[in-house]
Amino acid sequence: MKSARKHLRPDSSHLKQQYESIRKTFIEFHEFKRRIGDSKLDDLLSLKMKIHETSVNYVDMLLELGNEKIEHQATPYQLIRKLYTWVAPSRSDTVYDIGAGYGRVLFYGALTCKGRYRGIELVPQRVVESMRIRNHLRLRNLDFIQGNAACTDLQMATIFFFFNPLFSDTLKQVGRQIRSLAKTKQIRIASLAQSNDYFSCQRWLRECTPPATGKFSNTRYGLRLFRSIAADSPY
Ligand SMILES: C[S@@+](CC[C@H](N)C(=O)[O-])C[C@H]1O[C@@H](n2cnc3c(N)ncnc32)[C@H](O)[C@@H]1O
Repeated sequence: MKSARKHLRPDSSHLKQQYESIRKTFIEFHEFKRRIGDSKLDDLLSLKMKIHETSVNYVDMLLELGNEKIEHQATPYQLIRKLYTWVAPSRSDTVYDIGAGYGRVLFYGALTCKGRYRGIELVPQRVVESMRIRNHLRLRNLDFIQGNAACTDLQMATIFFFFNPLFSDTLKQVGRQIRSLAKTKQIRIASLAQSNDYFSCQRWLRECTPPATGKFSNTRYGLRLFRSIAADSPY
């Protein structure tokens, strides 16, 4: 009886060891010291996106949440590594993933980098699963908010990540919110896929994507980085 209970509720030193081992693996991946595939890294987090996606009924969700772009696709870990290599969050940064899905981007950041992390995600099932993992790993520098990004307070953010999560009307609303935030502090935005077209046209942003290295070139819909220009600029 005693050992069964122990198996069901691992003690805190067991959890700490598990956390340290996961963190070590992510850091080794981040520092290019270890090659490791996406499904292996998801397994380490106990992230089972495919299983949980079967409980998402798109028709019900659209009726309940309105016409939003709720299909899910996770950013590959190699791109997440590139993202954090580029933005290198400091202790004073707060990274928001707009349309966080199951939180892959944020788990990576919270395990390998400094700063705080927050996911905004519309689909409740994805937030429940992200929170389960966050609580299991006791990641106090990370939280998730369920809701529409257009109606969510974004004040704390200094860095945003967008993997093409929003239809254009919602993107414009969120963009306006970020623009007014940029009047009070510098904001950096990393964007992947079609959301790049919106950010690259904003006159209050400057593109600061680092030059391509190795055999990969920077492309229109690849990962791109923008920063807000000074608040006293005429734009
Ligand atoms: C392409 S997935 C990206 C997931 C995650 N950011 C990643 O890169 O691994 C986009 C996510 O945005 C969410 N989403 C769509 N519209 C949204 C909105 N208006 N507010 C918050 N989340 C939204 C979707 O439900 C989906 O999970």
